Amino acid sequence: MSEYLPGLAGVPATQSNISDIDGEKGILAYRGYPIEQLAEKSTFEETTLLMLDGKLPTAQELEDFDQRIRASRRTQYHIRDLMKTFPPSGHPMEMLQTAVASLGMFYPGNECLTDADACEDLNYIHNMTVEIIARMATIVAMWEHLRRGYEPPEPRSDLSYAENFLYMFTGTEPDPLLAKIMDVCLILHAEHTINASTFSVLVTASTLASPYSVIAAAIGTLSGPLHGGANQKVLEMLAEIGSPAKVEKYIDNKLANKEIIWGMGHREYKTKDPRAKFLEKLVDKLLESRGGNVNPLLETAKEVERISEDRLAHKGVYANVDFYSGILYHEMGIPADQFTAIFAVARSAGWLAHWREQLGDNRIFRPTQVYTGEPSRDYVPIELRN
Ligand code: COA
Repeated sequence: MSEYLPGLAGVPATQSNISDIDGEKGILAYRGYPIEQLAEKSTFEETTLLMLDGKLPTAQELEDFDQRIRASRRTQYHIRDLMKTFPPSGHPMEMLQTAVASLGMFYPGNECLTDADACEDLNYIHNMTVEIIARMATIVAMWEHLRRGYEPPEPRSDLSYAENFLYMFTGTEPDPLLAKIMDVCLILHAEHTINASTFSVLVTASTLASPYSVIAAAIGTLSGPLHGGANQKVLEMLAEIGSPAKVEKYIDNKLANKEIIWGMGHREYKTKDPRAKFLEKLVDKLLESRGGNVNPLLETAKEVERISEDRLAHKGVYANVDFYSGILYHEMGIPADQFTAIFAVARSAGWLAHWREQLGDNRIFRPTQVYTGEPSRDYVPIELRN
């Protein structure tokens, strides 16, 4: 019998050449390029194309891809009408999962997936990728208006992906610094090897389900607080703590009760997540641009990190990506329940790169199990049971 490893810890689930993590050194690279360099020098559009095609695009390739994304931002008004029927109190991740799943009915195009050979049709894969990535941002931004009872602004094709997202989300001209920060956040969240949601991409893709079903499955997986949902939880935790002076008691109580400190710990990293380091610097940069006043939320967060490290570093538990992203989004004026949906917008790039990779060498996922139930036994008629 093969050994069962809970959570498949350390078990390779696939071969992939999209991204790589060195968990001891705290390094993350997409297609070999360290994320710090991509965050400083690239754009979300270019990074997405890098992940899809495996190489940095030429100027012409990037221009073509960018134009196609800009042209695909609009959604049919039926989708807006559908979203208007959702309860305004609904969580944005449930809204997003439902709306993305519905795209499969409004924009069918999965006919090639009935033929396994056609799965290598790169045109089809590129088209679906562009359409989904373009519309993910539109849907999240539209919801911000629809749930408040307003008509959302139309997408603008004269803006970059990050600029257009902020414009549609807030309804105002995007501030250049905020647009740059959003672009960097999208890059940093775009991909992360075989995490839980990407694993669900592989499983769903391996059945030749439509890419909309693939991404809807991944959105559901990302929503959990042990995965992408942690960024919202971090902000709620900081609000609950209230001030740096209350941190130590709060953390010690949590740990004594065997509860989780949100935004801490990672299966792969045994040091601080490199994305958390970058995001922390972005928070500092944003606050500096506003005069560098002391920010109680950030001060509380830094104290949570310090005390958590003191208590948990021996277990290899340090701040992860979700620790500082929530603070950053909060400072950008984004409501906490939208944080994970924005994560999903960014991660759609990595998910679709993995969808493409899975289709290129597909075999349906069908693992085995270790049965721990009753041995074979005979059915007992209801009148004889006690
Ligand atoms: N708070 C307190 N203790 C934590 C912790 C956290 N956030 N993360 C890990 N630990 C502890 C575990 O209790 C365990 O202790 P033990 O060995 O005494 O039992 C040890 O560290 C190993 O953790 P484990 O739960 O086995 O790690 P995992 O790889 O299965 O889980 C996470 C990884 C991410 C699910 C986990 O660290 C976690 O729940 N983090 C908080 C949620 C979060 O921020 N998620 C976003 C990830 S990007």
